[in-house]
Amino acid sequence: MKDLFDKIKANRGPIGQHAKESHGYFTFPKLEGDIGPHMVFRGKKRLNWSLNNYLGLADHPEVRKADADGAKEFGLALPMGARMMSGNSNNHEKLEAELSAYVEKQDTILCNYGYQAMVSAIDCLVDRHDVIVYDGESHACILDGVRLHMGKRYVYKHNDIADCEKQLQRAAKLIEGTNGSILVITEGVFGMRGDQGRLKEIVALKKKYSFRLFVDDAHGIGTMGKKGGGTGQEQGCQDGIDIYFGTFAKSFALIGGFISSEEQIVEYLRYNMRSQIFAKSLPMPLVVGALKRLELMRNHPELREKLWDITRALQSGLKKAGFDIGVTDSPVTPVYMNGSIPEATNLIFDLRENFNIFCSMVVYPVVPKGMIILRLIPTAVHTLEDVNYTIEAFSKIVGKLKSGQYMADKIAAT
Ligand SMILES: Cc1ncc(COP(=O)(O)O)c(C=O)c1O
Repeated sequence: MKDLFDKIKANRGPIGQHAKESHGYFTFPKLEGDIGPHMVFRGKKRLNWSLNNYLGLADHPEVRKADADGAKEFGLALPMGARMMSGNSNNHEKLEAELSAYVEKQDTILCNYGYQAMVSAIDCLVDRHDVIVYDGESHACILDGVRLHMGKRYVYKHNDIADCEKQLQRAAKLIEGTNGSILVITEGVFGMRGDQGRLKEIVALKKKYSFRLFVDDAHGIGTMGKKGGGTGQEQGCQDGIDIYFGTFAKSFALIGGFISSEEQIVEYLRYNMRSQIFAKSLPMPLVVGALKRLELMRNHPELREKLWDITRALQSGLKKAGFDIGVTDSPVTPVYMNGSIPEATNLIFDLRENFNIFCSMVVYPVVPKGMIILRLIPTAVHTLEDVNYTIEAFSKIVGKLKSGQYMADKIAAT
């Protein structure tokens, strides 16, 4: 037998094992100052591409005012208790109605955190007779929801519709003659690669197979579709999405999330989703803050247009400069490079200290060994000047990477 703490101390996990060298710089960095494209990191202003503040709402004056007014009027405690018991309010219901209209669904349930909402909704929607069919590169919240599922699950290769159909065939065969059902789960926009889930093609499979489709559109809400109503709207198949999830953590620049569907399905979630019936409801300032953000998203399409102008300039500029940005068709912009982990850390150090650019880096074990991804998130508040400066800087660092300069022990800050 081993002491639990001894075991944990000996094995700190795939990322945690590097904590000593990385804490405070590569992991848990502190970005300070007004939220936006220019923030302070270690006492110096840096051009920041690492926030999902897609529409630039985080520091929008009307949003800041609504947040401050909300806190002043209601405090952070109200309402107390779970929605079902003592935590409901007119504002919560108003926000749900407005979100339903925005994503073109009958009804909506507000949730406290996006991650928790997905896990709990998956747990709530299926029973042990049902089969889940899901994309292999799904976000952790989908994978963890699936882990709670007591029935069968079949994973299909990322965005591979032929494989999705194969898994649907397996699922259909398994539940033949039982009262089991099939739930397909995918993301609207995949947050790492930036490619859209092939929602239209999945919806088309409904002609051949009986299933319901649940879409996690964390990165799509506010950014995709003519009115920002999400990736289903973008692909013209919003009707085919049976259960739609959006988070407040990205375009809304807030916290919380929501799930929209048919009225009776949302009612079922309201009365059965454990993360909501056994947890305190969203604080009122967040609810009135979300109402303000939604109003801005509806009434100011220019925010989304600006986001896309910056996205197009960044992505086409990177491509023109010879960078591999993969298959993105959303604002999420991964830049793929080849190199070891020490090279990646030297490169990021150089980028931050000498070029004053702050972006996220993804390395093994999240991506295969030898691959480095620098992930850029354009927003409506970046400028073309930011874009051009970044592409020039990236061209310089990739030159250094290719000539082996980042193999040296440590790159000095100038
Ligand atoms: C695809 C996806 N789903 C869910 C979440 C979780 O959302 P939240 O941050 O609101 O918990 C995220 C955020 O990282 C995400 O990218």
